Amino acid sequence: MKKWTKLFLVFTLALSVALLAACGSSDTQAPANDDAADPSLPVYKVGTDAAYKPFEWTMPNGDIVGFDVDVINAVGEAAGFRVDIQHKGWEGLFETVENGEVDMAVSAITITEERKQKYDFANPYFEATQLILVPENSDINSLADLEGKDIGVQQGTTGDIAVRSAFGQQYSGVKPFENTPFAIQALSIGQVDAVVADNVVVMEYVKANPNANLRYVFDDAFDAEYYGFLVKKGNTELLEKLNEGLRIIKENGTYDAIYAEYFGQ
Ligand code: ARG
Repeated sequence: MKKWTKLFLVFTLALSVALLAACGSSDTQAPANDDAADPSLPVYKVGTDAAYKPFEWTMPNGDIVGFDVDVINAVGEAAGFRVDIQHKGWEGLFETVENGEVDMAVSAITITEERKQKYDFANPYFEATQLILVPENSDINSLADLEGKDIGVQQGTTGDIAVRSAFGQQYSGVKPFENTPFAIQALSIGQVDAVVADNVVVMEYVKANPNANLRYVFDDAFDAEYYGFLVKKGNTELLEKLNEGLRIIKENGTYDAIYAEYFGQ
């Protein structure tokens, strides 16, 4: 290659990297209401497991960003509160709400009857279902095909629950991981045959990692799930604010704008 062609290539590469970095930071930057917010507003602590792209993940600089982060900030802006989002991990996340370490958990949490016994949920803000993630050349094409296979799940999630309800509570093929990225890693190195996790997270992973040679399998045996903000049982004051904020942002188009930013129309 000629010296100038080379220089030009290096320059274009550097420019695209810089541009990418700039875009990356502008649309994943901290909550819009961070700088504008009235400092006299109450601040609620929000616990999350920030390893769940695109709902919540951690930037290299430590910022927690994602769809959930934008939604809860917008809800706060509409209902008159600010939020302080903290990574707590998934295991024990609900207990941090129970013991008052945080005021709520926002973490793509599915509203389930069992969880409702112990906690209160605000109104649903997102619909999901489970998907099966497999290597491209896998012979798994349905939930039933998972029988007898090793299945990675994030421990205690609805993916974990769905697999156990399909193959038995004590099914020895369930391999629980601390977070979903660990389960997917295990799949990539052949430690498990499949991963069952929330559809959007699985789809995002496949899209972002075209060279991982993974594909996903849909099965309508998986129920529809709805995400909700989780609060301590009986915290009606906060619940009302959350529902009010959600109502406002759904009405005024803010929710749709955030949705479109992450998922398109
Ligand atoms: N929706 C699923 C559940 O509620 C998985 C949520 C996992 N969230 C996370 N941030 N890791 O069980």
